[in-house]
Amino acid sequence: MLLIATSLGALGCEPELLIAPEGSLLRDPSQDFPERFSEVGLYPAAPDFDAVPSAAHAYEPAWPLWSNGSAKRRHIVLPSGETIDNTRTPWRFPAGTLLFKTFLYPDPALATDLRPIETRVMRLNAAGEWDYAAYRWREDATEADLVDPAMPTPVPVRSTGDDLLHTIPAALECRTCHESRDGEVLGFEPLQLGGLRESGGTQLDQLAERGLFAVPPAPAEPIEHEDPTTQAVLGYFYGDCVHCHNGGDGPSSSFDLRPAVALDNTIGVMTASSASAFGVRIVPGDPAASILFQSTSGETPDAEVKLMPPLGVDVRNPETVELLRGWISGLGESGS
Ligand code: HEC
Ligand code: HEC
Repeated sequence: MLLIATSLGALGCEPELLIAPEGSLLRDPSQDFPERFSEVGLYPAAPDFDAVPSAAHAYEPAWPLWSNGSAKRRHIVLPSGETIDNTRTPWRFPAGTLLFKTFLYPDPALATDLRPIETRVMRLNAAGEWDYAAYRWREDATEADLVDPAMPTPVPVRSTGDDLLHTIPAALECRTCHESRDGEVLGFEPLQLGGLRESGGTQLDQLAERGLFAVPPAPAEPIEHEDPTTQAVLGYFYGDCVHCHNGGDGPSSSFDLRPAVALDNTIGVMTASSASAFGVRIVPGDPAASILFQSTSGETPDAEVKLMPPLGVDVRNPETVELLRGWISGLGESGS
């Protein structure tokens, strides 16, 4: 039974219980991806994106991926009665698991203040493989349509800042990011859920209380560093880079930016890839000379420098650019 409590409760009314549509993807995850998002059943009260069936659990990674500054809503839905096998890493999900990520931009013209652009879906099929789909929201934000997975779909976005073009990736691009490390699920994993303690424990603890896991999850080893700026940089690498740069067998993995090795692999270290510019990844005290800074900030005179990440970013994050600039400059001062 899939019941939903709408956010009317927050307005002081009795929470209204709604049922996800008969025949929706949430009820039968084995069907082909429906053409319309209303048949998926995650947002029966769209454009209210906070009202979801009780089977859908909201979560947020500690170090979310930057996507043009958009807001996100993320949910996981497990098949009824099933749990995640967390006795191993990566966690093993039951067939029929659904994961959702919705991208929204601030838009004061809408009653909800946030305009949805796309919702991405991952589904673990009966053969044990992940299927990927994306839905593009219509102007009125009440319905979205399945996009053609063969090519990227550019969507013009009018928002509070400058207008921008948001790109919905092609299915092959979903795989480039999601299948370059051990475990396709990138944000719903031990460190992203257990690496930051909020009041009332970590998200991992809260999700465990809702019975999502086979055994009580062990606490995750957090990303820690005595210097808060360095710690923030390591978290940024973890959220935005490690799905590709992780020392695994994937095409972009030889360069490892995982927290334990990221500093050793960057500061004063030459680039190694023939696919990228020749130079030093991080030159202490000199961001402009650092290939890693040039590639993430886009501030580079060198056409050989590939922009990083190579996918999923149409607008750079000014905060992380300044974080890196300040951090690399400071490395010079301390003489390290
Ligand atoms: C640039 C790399 C990149 C591309 C391209 C990409 N993703 Fe992701 N995706 C991520 C990362 C990193 C996360 C986890 C962090 C977050 O949620 O902010 C994620 C999270 C998700 C989630 C939530 C479950 C999870 O793995 O954490 C879904 C669902 C998802 N992506 C679907 C898709 C689909 C479908 C496509 C293609 C249409 C796609 N993604 C393309 C990097 C990417
Ligand atoms: C979608 C996968 C992907 C993501 C995400 C990604 N990269 Fe890359 N990166 C590549 C590929 C592919 C190359 C070139 C081939 C190689 O390194 O083997 C590369 C090369 C690089 C290089 C130059 C190669 C070298 O030897 O130094 C740097 C520096 C770099 N990336 C930094 C980053 C940073 C920092 C992030 C996160 C902000 C990031 N990348 C995110 C795929 C990715």
